[in-house]
Parts: sequence; C-alpha cells; structure tokens
Amino acid sequence: METTKRCWVTGAAGLIGHAAAHAVPLPPGWAAVPLARGDLELADGPAVAARFRADRPDAILHCAAMSRSPDCQRDPVLARSWNVEATRRLAGLAADIPFALLSTDLVFDGKKGNYREDDAVGPLSVYAETKVEAEAAVRQNPRHLVVRTSLNHGHSPTGNRGFNEEILAAWRAGRSLRLFADEFRNPIAAVVTARAVWELLARGASGIVHVAGTEKLSRWEIGMALAARHPEGRGLVEAGRLSEYQGAPRAPDTTLDCTRARAWLGFPLPGYREWLAGNP
Ligand SMILES: NC(=O)c1ccc[n+]([C@@H]2O[C@H](COP(=O)([O-])OP(=O)(O)OC[C@H]3O[C@@H](n4cnc5c(N)ncnc54)[C@H](OP(=O)(O)O)[C@@H]3O)[C@@H](O)[C@H]2O)c1
Repeated sequence: METTKRCWVTGAAGLIGHAAAHAVPLPPGWAAVPLARGDLELADGPAVAARFRADRPDAILHCAAMSRSPDCQRDPVLARSWNVEATRRLAGLAADIPFALLSTDLVFDGKKGNYREDDAVGPLSVYAETKVEAEAAVRQNPRHLVVRTSLNHGHSPTGNRGFNEEILAAWRAGRSLRLFADEFRNPIAAVVTARAVWELLARGASGIVHVAGTEKLSRWEIGMALAARHPEGRGLVEAGRLSEYQGAPRAPDTTLDCTRARAWLGFPLPGYREWLAGNP
C-alpha cells in the first residue's frame, strides 16, 4: 500500500498558508502538516533543523513571511531574517525533497505589465528585495519551485491579511477609500492559489511559475467589485491616480502572464470577478 506523503505548510496561521493547510482538497496521497509560528519559529535555525530531523517531511510548502510591505520597510533586518534567511535554511534542509516558495508579483517594477517568469526583476521596496533574495536562494536547487502570485483575497485566521479584509475593515469603520484607477494587479482567491501550489508541487513543477487571476483589474475596479457585494462599501470608493501620490515608489502594473501555470494545472485559473460571482 502506498504511504501518504507529509508536507510541511509554513505560515499556516496566515492567509495562504491557512488555505493550503486547512481549506483546499489536497492532491491524492498527500497530507498537510500545518506549522504556525507557535509550532515552530523559523528564525530559530537549530529548532528548525531539529524539527526537520525528527519529522522527516516529504515536501515543504513555504508560505511564512513578513508579508506586509510597511513592516519590512520599518525593520529591514528582521524582514531579511524571516523572508530570506529562514527560506534559505528551509530550502537547504529540503535539498532532496520538493520545496515550494510563495513569492510575489512585486519582484517587478511594474513599468511593463504582463510579466513572464524570465522577465528581469526590479524590486522597489524592502519587501520586494527580500522576496527576490529568497527566490535566488531557492533557485540554487533546480528541482525547487518558486510560485509568484498577486493580490490574494480570502479569510485569514487573524481577519486582517486578505486585501478584501483590509478594505472591509475600513468601510466598517466608515472610512472612504481612494483607490488607484491606474495601478493594475491580477487578484486571485487564496484558496485558488493554494490549490494551484499543491498541484504544482505534487506534479513536480520546478523553477518559477506565475499563479494569478486571469483578469487585469485596477485597484479602483477591485474596490468597486467588492462594494457591489458589500453594501457597507457603497459610496466609499473614490478613484485616485498615481500621479497624485507622493510616497514610496509604487509599481503601476505587475500583472503576470500565467501561461506556464496553465500548462501544469488541471483546472483553469479564474478571473477575479468571475470567481467572486461564483463564491457569494
Ligand atoms: N497575500 C497576498 O496578497 C500575497 C501576494 C503575493 C505574495 N504573497 C506571498 O505569499 C506568502 C503568504 O502570504 P500571506 O498573505 O499568507 O501572509 P500572512 O497572512 O502574513 O501569513 C504569513 C504567516 O507567516 C508567519 N511567519 C512569518 N515569519 C515567521 C517566522 N519567522 N516563523 C514562523 N512563522 C512566521 C506569520 O506569523 P505572524 O503573523 O506571527 O507574523 C504569518 O502567520 C508570503 O510569502 C507572501 O510574500 C502574498
């Protein structure tokens, strides 16, 4: 009888890690071993190595990260420790087993859009720089996988990690949001990202694969799509323009070409509004 393969899922109390560990059907023959920070602090090298030796997982799906850009900007040293060094350590331990790192569309500067996996990166923030460095660490092993995704929608255990959760929290506090009508992303549901990453891992994909929603939407269009579903948002979405903005550099169009993912996946990646319509 074939034994079940056990895959560590790090960041299991986060948006995508929780979806991957608890919310999606897994490929046949696989079981998730959820690891939240309370189970294992990934910055603690000796503890991670000891746990790996004791557990002997068959694969690692690495979703843990300092994922919010302002946090990384405030503390670049800690951001590198969590996003780069913890990733390097895990990928090293996983030298002989499948390993997938979740990465981001923000590795690109957003000047071009519709990025392919082999396009040149151009990180504009500390967060993006740490993800570029983490990707490079993972790609030392040609059998390992990097999955870049875009804005993820979902319900996180902490209630504040999905972009939809942040927008709803603002509306519920009565705050109007000015959202860029000229900044473009490919939003996707975290459960779709999680299902895709599992499939890629189980099917033996390696290198970089882009996994994102197939619809290119501005942040304003995303806000309008959510407001159409949530009455508390009606009248609380304004259209802004990047030219009015005076802050840290922003990437105007980080949309991702997902042709490579489509060749691997056994299901179609949906557009965001199509997915919303099917998941009331
Ligand atoms: N969500 C998106 O829209 C999006 C888009 C593109 C790429 N990504 C990437 O996808 C991955 C998952 O993102 P997410 O949205 O699920 O993030 P998230 O909700 O912030 O979850 C990340 C989790 O990792 C944990 N973590 C961070 N550092 C750790 C450490 N040193 N030891 C143990 N646990 C640690 C965090 O714990 P604490 O809460 O205690 O810090 C958190 O529970 C990340 O690599 C992110 O860069 C996400």
